[in-house]
Amino acid sequence: MKISPKMKKALNDQVALEASASNSYLAMASWCEVTGYQGGADYFYAQSDEERTHMLKVVHYLNDMGSAASIPATKAPASSYKSLEGLIKTALKNEQTVTKAIHNMVDIAQKEKDHSTYAFLEWFVNEQVQEETKFETLLQKFDLIGRDKLAINEIDKFLVADAAAPEADPAA
Ligand SMILES: [Fe+2]
Ligand SMILES: [Fe+2]
Repeated sequence: MKISPKMKKALNDQVALEASASNSYLAMASWCEVTGYQGGADYFYAQSDEERTHMLKVVHYLNDMGSAASIPATKAPASSYKSLEGLIKTALKNEQTVTKAIHNMVDIAQKEKDHSTYAFLEWFVNEQVQEETKFETLLQKFDLIGRDKLAINEIDKFLVADAAAPEADPAA
């Protein structure tokens, strides 16, 4: 089975996007840890691991299809944030960028009648719905609970619980 050069490039770009997301969440986790947001730290360390598994899925897929994956360098992520809310807004933006890239690949797969890649991408389409919802729900908390120190502490505690909860498999 072969994938087109265009699809190969798009998938390799996705490897880079997932690697950047993993690094970016690692930087967010580290910032949370030094700032005293233990919940945020747990949450984003776990999120960083998750993005690495996404990257690996694409790497294995490319290799399985006989199109050796290229492992990219990534740009250094931002290392400091104005607030926990600002950080989560950045995370949501990251996810929206990833969603666009996934949808673009689905368009290519449809045009090229590449059924294998189309089927492979379905998991990612569902995953992105979950990811965006997750961060949107977190951002809502600031409107619901507030933005004073106690409220942010409550939201940080909520993040501890969320980091500990196993994630639903979007394929299930
Ligand atoms: Fe991802
Ligand atoms: Fe993600």
